Amino acid sequence: MTLYSRLRPLVFKLPAETAHDLGKRTLRVAGSRWPIAAVLRYAYRYDHPALEVEAFDTTFPNPVGVAAGFDKNAEVAHGLAALGFGFVEVGTVTPYPQPGNERPRLFRLREDEAMVNRMGFNGQGMERVKERIEHRGLPDVPVGVNVGKMNSSTETEAIEDYRRVFTRLSSYADYVVVNVSCPNTPEEFDEGSPEHLRAIFETLEAENDAGVPILVKVGPDEPEESLYDLVDIAEEFDLDGIVATNTTTSRERVRSSNGEEWGGLSGKPLEDRSTAVVRSLASYTDLPIVGVGGVDSAESAYEKIRAGASLVQLYTGFVYNGPATPGAITRGLVELLERDGFSSVEAAVGADLE
Ligand SMILES: Cc1cc2nc3c(=O)[nH]c(=O)nc-3n(C[C@H](O)[C@H](O)[C@H](O)COP(=O)(O)O)c2cc1C
Repeated sequence: MTLYSRLRPLVFKLPAETAHDLGKRTLRVAGSRWPIAAVLRYAYRYDHPALEVEAFDTTFPNPVGVAAGFDKNAEVAHGLAALGFGFVEVGTVTPYPQPGNERPRLFRLREDEAMVNRMGFNGQGMERVKERIEHRGLPDVPVGVNVGKMNSSTETEAIEDYRRVFTRLSSYADYVVVNVSCPNTPEEFDEGSPEHLRAIFETLEAENDAGVPILVKVGPDEPEESLYDLVDIAEEFDLDGIVATNTTTSRERVRSSNGEEWGGLSGKPLEDRSTAVVRSLASYTDLPIVGVGGVDSAESAYEKIRAGASLVQLYTGFVYNGPATPGAITRGLVELLERDGFSSVEAAVGADLE
């Protein structure tokens, strides 16, 4: 039994967002004091050459990253790296600070090992994130920056929002993700329409002299044809990869009594759906895919990799399983690779595709 599994009943007595803030505060303190960070690293981090992945011109020490939303304001990236994550996706970062939706807006669905959130892009805005990165520096693992629009923006303003955050932060990022798939921000227009996507990518392409890799994050609720249309557009603009998937509005397989809270569902009930999206994307394109949704163990990470994901991310699985999660997943992945005769993670990517 881990320390976290002993503490979890206590932590889970707190409202979900309070527990989350408390956890982040602890991680921030730990990550910013080198002796503590060194101890965490020694206790948790697992490195192995078979875990290394090259994707979009970046070397990832292992394929297990932190999904967007956990570190919205770049406060705990060092602590997350010390725990053993192979990369951290900061954000969603918006151009200006915004409070997000009213609390409560984050719910644990314990019976389902899931969460529902309707945070609504709460965040400190790009200037604060930039200052923090300049002040503290970046961890020694790749960092992605996930960019988003203000909730009040019109379709035209949204494009300017993406441009602003991109120009402000892309020089610090190993990759940038355009997030057009959040199910809990106001839907003033169709964020996934081909015209809107083209306008965003065209704008970012014009700003991207440094050639920072750009990815797009998709939702799990899109019909297959829309996904393929999006991939066609991503390829047309030479994007570098796809993050699949964001949270779902579906409540299939959910048993918890608070499952009907509105917002995006993450965690176990999302797992198969997001893996199916990874699989259909990987069968359609050679662009690298970052698989996210319900990853909480070596087996679930391995399944996404075999379905075609070059990298995986998690959020909810980390909340349920605690600080030992990345180490347990990376260690377990090496065992699974050895069991199946793969020399590396890269050799196993897409192994289940015909
Ligand atoms: C509380 C919470 C906040 C999130 N915020 C963001 C966000 O700001 N931007 C984003 O792209 N995804 C966000 N996500 C979605 C996650 O990045 C991820 O795509 C989703 O939770 C599925 O992964 P999981 O099952 O491992 O949690 C958020 C998820 C949660 C639970």
